[in-house]
Amino acid sequence: MLGRLNHVAIVVPDLKAAAELYRSQLEAQVSAPLPLPDHGVTTVFVELPNSKIELLHPLGENSPVANFLANNPSGGMHHICYEVRDIDAAIEHLKSKGARVLGDGKPKTGAHNLPVVFLHPKDFCGTLIELEEVPAVPS
Ligand code: CO
Repeated sequence: MLGRLNHVAIVVPDLKAAAELYRSQLEAQVSAPLPLPDHGVTTVFVELPNSKIELLHPLGENSPVANFLANNPSGGMHHICYEVRDIDAAIEHLKSKGARVLGDGKPKTGAHNLPVVFLHPKDFCGTLIELEEVPAVPS
């Protein structure tokens, strides 16, 4: 069911400082900050040869990462995102195995304009998991 690791998301208290840390100390390729008001976050993407790191900072009121930052003031790993080919089939399979899909259980359009769902961390070793439907790359 699982495809590639799409990204690991890290919530940070200072997006500019975090981007600079990845750029200058870790010598990574870092994007400009991208505000996503619909998702309540500003993101910076760190491009790795085999995956991405998403640096997240709360944006606006009711940000889904505001509580996390309040509980982890120096920041921390927030979720990991796996690619799936068919998100509806993945949801059906997971529900049949007793896993809890967060929210109303239906895919939402995520930060990359692709359907995503989040799985309850208590069902997956204390880790918040995002599934993102990524179409097959034409060969
Ligand atoms: Co994500």
